[in-house]
Amino acid sequence: MLRVSAFRLLGRRGASRVSLLEDFSFRYYSSGPLGVRDDTRDSRAYFTTPIFYVNAAPHIGHLYSALLADALCRHHRLRVPSDAATGFSTGTDEHGLKIQQAAAAAGLAPSELCDRVSAQFQQLFREADISSTDFIRTTEARHRIAVQHFWGMLKSRGLLYKGLYEGWYCASDECFLPEAKVTRQPGPSGDLCPVSLESGHPVSWTKEENYIFRLSQFREPLQQWLRGDPQAITPEPFHHTVLQWLEEELPDLSVSRRSSHLHWGIPVPGDDSQTIYVWLDALVNYLTVIGYPDPEFKSWWPNTSHIIGKDILKFHAIYWPALLLGAGMSPPHRIYVHSHWTVCGQKMSKSLGNVVDPRTCLDRYTVDGFRYFLLRQGVPSWDCDYYDEKVVKLLDSELADALGGLLNRCTANKINPSGIYPAFCATCFPSEPGLVGPSGRAQAEDYALVSAVATLPKQVADHYDNFQIYKALEAVSSCVRQTNGFVQRHAPWKLNWESPVDAPWLGTVLHVALECLRVFGTLLQPVTPSLADRLLSRLGVSSTERSLGELHFLSRFYGHPSPFEGRRLGPETGVLFPRLDQSRSWLVKAHKT
Ligand code: MSP
Repeated sequence: MLRVSAFRLLGRRGASRVSLLEDFSFRYYSSGPLGVRDDTRDSRAYFTTPIFYVNAAPHIGHLYSALLADALCRHHRLRVPSDAATGFSTGTDEHGLKIQQAAAAAGLAPSELCDRVSAQFQQLFREADISSTDFIRTTEARHRIAVQHFWGMLKSRGLLYKGLYEGWYCASDECFLPEAKVTRQPGPSGDLCPVSLESGHPVSWTKEENYIFRLSQFREPLQQWLRGDPQAITPEPFHHTVLQWLEEELPDLSVSRRSSHLHWGIPVPGDDSQTIYVWLDALVNYLTVIGYPDPEFKSWWPNTSHIIGKDILKFHAIYWPALLLGAGMSPPHRIYVHSHWTVCGQKMSKSLGNVVDPRTCLDRYTVDGFRYFLLRQGVPSWDCDYYDEKVVKLLDSELADALGGLLNRCTANKINPSGIYPAFCATCFPSEPGLVGPSGRAQAEDYALVSAVATLPKQVADHYDNFQIYKALEAVSSCVRQTNGFVQRHAPWKLNWESPVDAPWLGTVLHVALECLRVFGTLLQPVTPSLADRLLSRLGVSSTERSLGELHFLSRFYGHPSPFEGRRLGPETGVLFPRLDQSRSWLVKAHKT
């Protein structure tokens, strides 16, 4: 393990030389098989979603952030199947001007709005099978304690000073903006109004005395962190973007607002006239969940993966690591960044009326179907477009026809009347193509299939490590197609169980296909948990045989016994995934409009 030791930093604005980082060290990890870290203590992993603003109901973009985190976390559980090894948090971001204003506009007390919308997120995540281990609300007492303690750490290290802040503030984005990031656009009355260049949201001029964080001191440490760990921010283009930002001047950051202006938040300890800046408040949620300031939090930190959208990159990749370094901690292990969903080519927005309600989608496409769609079609490096026909086409072809059809073909009573996991015949399908004797029937493509499925778990794990879940699903889907080709080629329905010549080969074809299905079911668990459960149950795979360590694909081919051979298949579970055919009324309506 490489340790980079402390730096000394020069204080600004009248501060004397301060030693900030004496007690922290960056930690780098090497990867072992399947990308699991070698250091066993560090097999503990903690995944986080952003915490969601409660000013409006959840949409599919929010669900996508949560699904990416859920799939990464579930995949980690497949690698390290111990409840104590994986933490996964999500929650709601409930303080700040944005919420204060939204509550006032709705004629509600802020706490009422928070309770109402936070409950909607909790319900959505329950329905969508998000397997989080904690749901944090920033209005909870445990969070106030963590934030105020964190503030105290920064203060005691000489990193906060009081100064006059004058500049633009965007309440919708909860951020300060330099003049260069502000433009003018015609407002509702036709007058030119100042708006954020990036988001288009209105900004207002602010001038007040605030607490200011010495962010400028962290430019070099942040550069060193990112240069020393090229995967810290994944995918790579986002890593590059952050390094580019750090080439520019990094001004100090205002981290409080006057309480008379912003009352809905956490007061600055010892100074009730100021409220802590909502982003500092929100980011500390990642520590609150793991028990900070109780020292136990160190068993989770910094082995943390933050999953975030590209719009909040600066907060997570610059402000947050700088704040952590300032408080004497390491930056997070990984920041996984994703792009956005558009709808029929347009940005989703309340004013355009095109916000897609994720609960309607879960109803239409089923929970597994919609999870599969978002994760199969969502490419973190660029924006992706949503429309109904695309979902139907994908799910019908990959889940209903290819995967469901394969399971049905290989387990149907007509083809496997005994309902038993059939025996594999090593002379029909010897481990070396050159050894195929007179009773051997395997062809070159069959060996290609076995080799593709044997290497699939490692390929999938690598894709997860690179935050390319869509590629993992593409690889599974390609192997499903290959397996269907294998079954088609050998047409087991034309073979006869009664014939001593056909029977061993018929059993072998079905055994190989079921083994492939077992691998697909295992690897699909992070994305389609209930569909994978039904598939594996139908194959008779017990709950203790569903981790990556238990996979042992086609062990008979490699000369080892198989625990499945001769075992009774699980009970018939019906159609694996029903076709969403064109006759569905909502789809017809969508075509007409
Ligand atoms: N509250 C802050 C995060 C604080 S984390 C310490 C916030 N909340 S948010 O509700 O606006 O956004 C939450 C997540 O949803 C972000 O990751 C954001 O990128 C994501 N999405 C919002 N719109 C999206 C799409 N249209 N598509 C995909 N994800 C999008 O920011």
